[in-house]
Formats: sequence, C-alpha cells, structure tokens
Amino acid sequence: MDSEANNQSTVPKKGPNDFIFGRVLGDGSFSTVYLAKDIQTGKEFAIKVCEKRHIMREKKQQYVKREKEVLMLLSDKVKTSAPFFVRLYCTFHDHSSLYFVLTRATNGDLLTYLQKAEKFDEEVAQFYTAELVHAVEHMHLLGVVHRDLKPENILLDTHRHILITDFGSAKIIPQPPFLPDADNSSEGTARRSSFVGTAQYVSPEILTDKRSSPASDLWAIGCVLYQMLEGNPPFQARSEYAIFQKILKLEFEYPALFPSVAQDFISKLLVIDSKERLGAQDFGGYPSIKQHRFFQSIDFETLYLKTPPCPS
Ligand code: ADE
Repeated sequence: MDSEANNQSTVPKKGPNDFIFGRVLGDGSFSTVYLAKDIQTGKEFAIKVCEKRHIMREKKQQYVKREKEVLMLLSDKVKTSAPFFVRLYCTFHDHSSLYFVLTRATNGDLLTYLQKAEKFDEEVAQFYTAELVHAVEHMHLLGVVHRDLKPENILLDTHRHILITDFGSAKIIPQPPFLPDADNSSEGTARRSSFVGTAQYVSPEILTDKRSSPASDLWAIGCVLYQMLEGNPPFQARSEYAIFQKILKLEFEYPALFPSVAQDFISKLLVIDSKERLGAQDFGGYPSIKQHRFFQSIDFETLYLKTPPCPS
C-alpha cells in the first residue's frame, strides 16, 4: 500500500483500511465515488475508486493518470489560491483498485439544484457563472483544459460555493501561462483526439476537426449559463447525432423574457469560430469576459468571501 499525493516522509501513508466507506455519492463510466470517513480524524471525504481490471479492459490508464496529474496541479496550494476545485488529499492503491481521496462537496451538484428550482433567478445564474469563469480562468492559466464542464461536474461546498470536479477528460498544456487560443498548434490541445465530452456541451471545433482548446471550455460555460436561466441546455434533440447537427448550425433559441444582458453574453460565447469567442486569446482574453455588462455587479476577487445567493 502506498500513498502518493502526500508522500512526505513524516506523513503516515494512508490506505483503504484508514477509512470507513459509506454510501455511493456518484458513479462514473470507470469509477465510483463513495462517502468515506477518516477513522483517525473523523473527517469526511469523497473517495473515488477506480477498479484496475476495468481500467485496463477499457484502456483508460491515460485518463486516470491525467486526472491525478491535474488534481495534483490544482491541489497545489502555492499554485492554486482559487478554492473552486475539489482537492486531492492523497491517493493509494491495493491489489484491485486505485483510490483518490477528494474534498467532499456537502451540497451535491449544481444539476440537482437546477432540477429542483427548474430555473435560476438572474442573480443566482450570474453568481455561479462568475465563480465558474474565475475558476476556469485559473485552470487555464495553469494550462488545464477541463473539456467536460457541465452542471453535474460543478459541485457545491458547505457554503454553496462551487467545486469543479471530474478531470478525467482534461488536457494539460505544458507551458503556462497562456490564454484561451483556438489554434495553437505547438501545444497539446491542438492534437486530434477521439474525445467528444458530453453531447449537449461539446463545442463545434471538437465535432469538426476533433481539436479542443481552452475556448472549448468557454463554449461550455455559455451552455451552462443558458441552462441555468432556461432550465435546459441550448442544444437538445433525441439523439447525440441530432444534437451535434444543431450545434454545428448554431440552432438554438432564446425563449421570450430571457434576460437580455445574459443573452448578449451567451451569444458572444456560443460562437462557431473558437477564435472569435469572447475570452479567446484574440478576442480580449479573460478581461473581456469579466468586463461584460452581465458581471457589472460582480467583484471577481472577493467572490469566495460572499454568501452565495440561494439557488431558486
Ligand atoms: N459526487 C462525486 N464527487 C463528489 C464529491 N467530491 N463530493 C460529493 N459528491 C460527489
């Protein structure tokens, strides 16, 4: 048994027997997240368990390795002062499984809140989008593209601040800092891959030339904001293929009474050409997003000190 993320010689190594495993918090395609209590401290965590046999069978070794690398990068207190990500406390393995000990988000995920509320008020949508933008900016500065941002992957902590999770689809670009750039061919994101993320939130460039970039996360933010205000994501259809067709034709509508400033902001993110998306490198970078009228009343630097508005 060895513990890797906190491998200082003075820190005793943890293993599965140091925790009491409780109910399932979430299920992924090749992992299960359990509520777990550290027997020694009584502290609760979410432990992601990946079965080795299943990972090998599905050839997902690269995804698991990437997820650990990204979590370690974002959990580095020196590099990450932004507290908007689940933190990796330690990892260990036994003969059958790999274990990631993560922050437990006590308030579940944003999708559950959204389904309960049906739609969010503009103030709530604005607050959560601001936290999302702030977190994603930080992630991009460290060279991480998430590539699967969606309400299920936005968890809420005890105070209902966001904690972005599930970095299994993420990509690391070797030389930070950089700005969202659609076509930086010297960087890893420009490599073609078979990845498409989740249909409703996938950006057109991933569908057409299978190239993702930081701007692909900006597209997803546009989809998530639309969903917060409308109840459903902008591109919906019976099949994934039909969803992809709608995305490529930018076929979506704003319902009557959709807040006009939010509409303007979303329309600048849901732009087919990733280079022309608000926030992309040649399109003003993050200042252009933060200075949009939609965020007029937001102070990005003190978001974490605010009490989030009640999702309703
Ligand atoms: N579901 C999946 N991951 C989780 C986490 N870290 N906390 C709470 N619920 C989760």
